[in-house]
Amino acid sequence: MTTQEIRKKYLDFFQKQQHVIVPSASLLPENDPTTLFTGSGMQPMVPFLLGQPHPMGTRIADSQKCFRSGDIEEVGDNRHTTFFEMLGNWSLGDYFKTEQIRWMWAFLTEELKLDPSRLYFTCFRGNETLGIPKDTEAAEQWQSLLQEAGVSAEIVDFSERDGMQGGRIFYYDEKKNWWSRSGVPGKMPVGEPGGPDTEMFWDFGEDLKLHEQSQWKDEPCHVNCDCGRFVEIGNNVFMQYQKTEQGFEQLPQKNVDFGGGLERMAAAVRDNQDVFTIDLFDGAREIIESMSGRTYGAVEGETYAFRVILDHLRAATFVVADGAFPSNKDQGYFTRRLIRRSVRFAKNLGIETSFTARVVEAYIETYKGHYPDLESKKQQIIDEIEKEELKFRKTLEQGIKQFEQVVSGKETGSASGAAPGKQIISATEAFDLYQSFGFPIELTEELAKERGLSVDLEGFQVEKEKHQALSRAGAEQKFKGGLSDHSDMSVKYHTATHLLHAAILKILGPHATQKGSNITPERLRFDFAHGEKMTDEQKQQVETLVNAAIERDYPVTFEILPIEEAKKKGAIGLFEDNYGEQVKVYTVGDPSGVPQADPSAETFSREFCGGPHVEHTGLLGKFRIVKEEACSAGVRRIKAVLE
Ligand code: SER
Repeated sequence: MTTQEIRKKYLDFFQKQQHVIVPSASLLPENDPTTLFTGSGMQPMVPFLLGQPHPMGTRIADSQKCFRSGDIEEVGDNRHTTFFEMLGNWSLGDYFKTEQIRWMWAFLTEELKLDPSRLYFTCFRGNETLGIPKDTEAAEQWQSLLQEAGVSAEIVDFSERDGMQGGRIFYYDEKKNWWSRSGVPGKMPVGEPGGPDTEMFWDFGEDLKLHEQSQWKDEPCHVNCDCGRFVEIGNNVFMQYQKTEQGFEQLPQKNVDFGGGLERMAAAVRDNQDVFTIDLFDGAREIIESMSGRTYGAVEGETYAFRVILDHLRAATFVVADGAFPSNKDQGYFTRRLIRRSVRFAKNLGIETSFTARVVEAYIETYKGHYPDLESKKQQIIDEIEKEELKFRKTLEQGIKQFEQVVSGKETGSASGAAPGKQIISATEAFDLYQSFGFPIELTEELAKERGLSVDLEGFQVEKEKHQALSRAGAEQKFKGGLSDHSDMSVKYHTATHLLHAAILKILGPHATQKGSNITPERLRFDFAHGEKMTDEQKQQVETLVNAAIERDYPVTFEILPIEEAKKKGAIGLFEDNYGEQVKVYTVGDPSGVPQADPSAETFSREFCGGPHVEHTGLLGKFRIVKEEACSAGVRRIKAVLE
């Protein structure tokens, strides 16, 4: 059974249970300022779990692309990846526990044909202080399904000290069997949804001696032990609570949120705990093998390098496809790190020539059936990644020389026998490698570690912040506003112009873009594209909208963003389309929201602009249009005052 077949079986199975299959959301979350990347299947579902109706109904399933940037350093063992697909199904106030457990059992044992005697389960132990009961219902249901299949199914109250105790179903506390985006109940912010969960594990086998060989060998092994014997293949969250000021409240609807790693399920089906051996990696692995002349799995250190490259270039392919091009900030910074680390680890395999394009191409070939956008954006993805590779190759050579020079004066920990970490790469040395040679700090750290040296990370951060403050000051200069005078009244008219601009586009339509603007302390003048005289009703509507935004007393704030990002965030206005250029945008309302020119929304407008503006719209007074007239062919002019 191939991994693509497993994905299809899952989606078909849930379609049979009346679920609507939806495409994966982007890896770059929309309207969710809390994270840079989509890291779980439920993330795009949050509004619906909280009660907003989903346009496709109450039963939804998908295979969601996920990226966990926090795992970059973990990659190299047999199971960590930064990118993965999470199979998910959701009940939005529809079915609940009984159906979900029954279906998951059927999917695992009948569709994937996993041996029930190798499956283990965990459930929530309950927490009296939180007023949330023990999930005996889930435990007993698993028990009876197991027993029907002729498998012994002891339920055990788990205790680390005692290990497995011959159990098959275990109660764990909220550290393991509670799910919310922010973790345990105590860490959840008010408003966040969460709930107890029941997880499903595959046992790769005691005889593999994984536990005995691991760092946990002196403690008893259990299903949540990290030795690799057991791997979690799915998590059923009963998302029925919401954090409040007082504690927890039931959500208006009881939801199910299931998420299971596709690659891990494939590893269980193959009964091989190395996820990098599943078929999704075959094409890419073969390219790396042929380019390096090495074999995956033959030499331990090399296998580590193989895995880093396999993981990182797959992740880079998907994040670039979703628009995170390599850069110095936000998501692009991670893309850059993924590519740079791949190049560096390729050196460990003796690959000294450009190789990313071929690996990326292999991934596109593998995935294009389910993700057709990879094929349509193929050239761009390859170009972006290769461009970064070539750039980095050049600086890497010089940087490594520079690094060698930096360390040559220092005795390395391992060579001298001194404790590692004694000798330090200073903040300035690390910052110079970062600034002049494009070395991400993590790379300096890794190289240092290999030599038993440590890096002054705190000092590095201070250096970096100092530098950022300087360039911010530069940007401030660059974006100095276009207002001729900065009197209080002019500043107010300037903000009113933003409200007017947004209102005009809303009432007249997207064609009515700004053509000019002029502000004095007495009035504003605004020219816009529109072929005919505005009706009295339209003028009235525009006035009402602007005044409602004033009454709403929105905050007005700015941020400096790359132009592409500003556009993605719905910024309007006149600007030159220079790729990579940073622009200043002013937002009226919540800076994390999407501008809607509607006073019932949290965000009213976002516009490219140098400023300055008032701090909140309540200061503006009452807005009135005094004149609307023709200005030139196809352009109208409004004069308006604040009273
Ligand atoms: N939210 C759960 C998880 O990410 C299940 O989808 O594991």
